[in-house]
Amino acid sequence: MEHTQWYKGRVFYQIWPRSFKDGNGDGMGDLWGVYEKLDYIKSLGVGGIWFSPLYPSPGVDCGYDISDYMDIAPEYGGMEAFEKVLEGAHARDIKVIMDLVVNHTSSQHEWFQKSRRRIEPYTDYYIWRPARPGGGLPNNWDSLFEGKAWQFDELRGEYYLHLFAVEQPDLNMDNPLVREEVKKILRFWLDKGVDGFREDVITFISKTEGLPDDRLMPASRGLLLYNNGPHLLEYLTEFYDGALADYDCMTLAEGPMINVKKALRYIEEKPGKVIDMIIQFECMSADCIATDYIHTPFSLRRLKRAWTKWQKGLAGKAWNMLYLENHDHPRVISRYGSEKYRVLSGKTLAAAYLFQQGTPFVYQGQEIGMTNWYPADPEMYEDVQTRWQYLHKATKRSPDKRLKRLWDASRDSARTPVQWTDGPKAGFTEGEPWFYLNENYKEVNVAAAEADPDSLLHFYRRAIALRQSLPAVRSGSYRAFDAFSGKRCVYAREGEGQRLLVVCAFSEAEQRFRAPAGFDLSAAKLVLQNYSDAPQGKLRPYECRVYLWA
Ligand code: NOJ
Repeated sequence: MEHTQWYKGRVFYQIWPRSFKDGNGDGMGDLWGVYEKLDYIKSLGVGGIWFSPLYPSPGVDCGYDISDYMDIAPEYGGMEAFEKVLEGAHARDIKVIMDLVVNHTSSQHEWFQKSRRRIEPYTDYYIWRPARPGGGLPNNWDSLFEGKAWQFDELRGEYYLHLFAVEQPDLNMDNPLVREEVKKILRFWLDKGVDGFREDVITFISKTEGLPDDRLMPASRGLLLYNNGPHLLEYLTEFYDGALADYDCMTLAEGPMINVKKALRYIEEKPGKVIDMIIQFECMSADCIATDYIHTPFSLRRLKRAWTKWQKGLAGKAWNMLYLENHDHPRVISRYGSEKYRVLSGKTLAAAYLFQQGTPFVYQGQEIGMTNWYPADPEMYEDVQTRWQYLHKATKRSPDKRLKRLWDASRDSARTPVQWTDGPKAGFTEGEPWFYLNENYKEVNVAAAEADPDSLLHFYRRAIALRQSLPAVRSGSYRAFDAFSGKRCVYAREGEGQRLLVVCAFSEAEQRFRAPAGFDLSAAKLVLQNYSDAPQGKLRPYECRVYLWA
């Protein structure tokens, strides 16, 4: 079947279902809530939804621990509610993609329960190893969430590998039966009418043969031995040929630590392409090193370097996925912008990424400028990774410093319920919310943003509509200026008879600004801005402007 690459002309919205909108009053977001908000989602100019996992799950990792791949969790409304949402989305010309989480399952999954008991054909569905002679763990790999990557199972008398939580055993993708299961899952959802998949840590599915000790990495040991592993391309090709090729669908692969060169192996637009887009992490590393938990001051230069690298690196060869936020990182205004200039900096951030080449994703709440959450007590955090970081990491630091570290780094900041109104429970639920609300909901909420023509929400709508109307944004070239400036981001998009200049200030202080040579601002139309006028020669705090020559 022809792959029409429809994703190239759309903007996506990511829903993390627990915290989007509760429709039945039990305090947890669900598909009834999504159904209610489909017109709101459409009003953003969005043409696609990525759902974080909706499947039955014990919830150890908020749904990324799946116990049944072919169903929808009852607390989200079950299959009936999902089909209604899918139909409602399609009726509005919104595509729907699911999260495919097949590096691991939940330990409650039937496959794992049978594998522990050596019931065929499940015996080798997971990565089991005996203790080393003398009794040690099978190798020195670390879990990315908690401690070592091995857990002893009494029933089976062996260790199993878990790169994430103990309750998330890794599947043995080297087993052809497991790969058959993946193809069945893909076909099941595609036959149901979904339009594609975001593939969770898919670059981890092929582990180096023999699972050797990692002698290079001081932390996250093993990462180099299972990320982009030896059979990854082969397995992705199998999934493509054995399922995806038969549907006009799209795939978005999560690729921690991936660089342009490696990404091109999978996404280059030539025969053998197996993935449409990659979620790269370089744009998430402008205020940290490798992980959000190794925090550094925000560096705009680093951010621009990452953006330029991917814009240039994929130009004419492959397609970028663009994002500022998702459910795994703190809120972007708090990281890369300014809470003091919340709305202005939110707009500058939006303009800085929305006019690049690729498919932009907007994460729930990003469009109204939700910010980080600062609980007084570390016990209030829910996330398995966050809790472990507090309890077991950096224990020599004072409690205050440890808590501050979570404020900077925890992904729970992106998981507080969406703030719909300034009313009870921020309009998220009529019951008791499953998680804490950010206290700023009285000020920051959808209703207030709807009522204010200058809000970030309306800016997102204008920016998305503008982007969709400009062919140069889809196919023009990308040229970055002022690469060494730590205070502004300036780039041009040129093509299809159009020239666009995007100018974004990232500073609380006013700065001088001159357009790059060859860009005569007096001949341009100012098509988007976040102040009401545009004096020549300077940029005010977090000012952004988009100029068009056409
Ligand atoms: C990446 C997901 O985005 C994250 O939320 C999850 O915890 C891990 N993969 C494990 O599935």
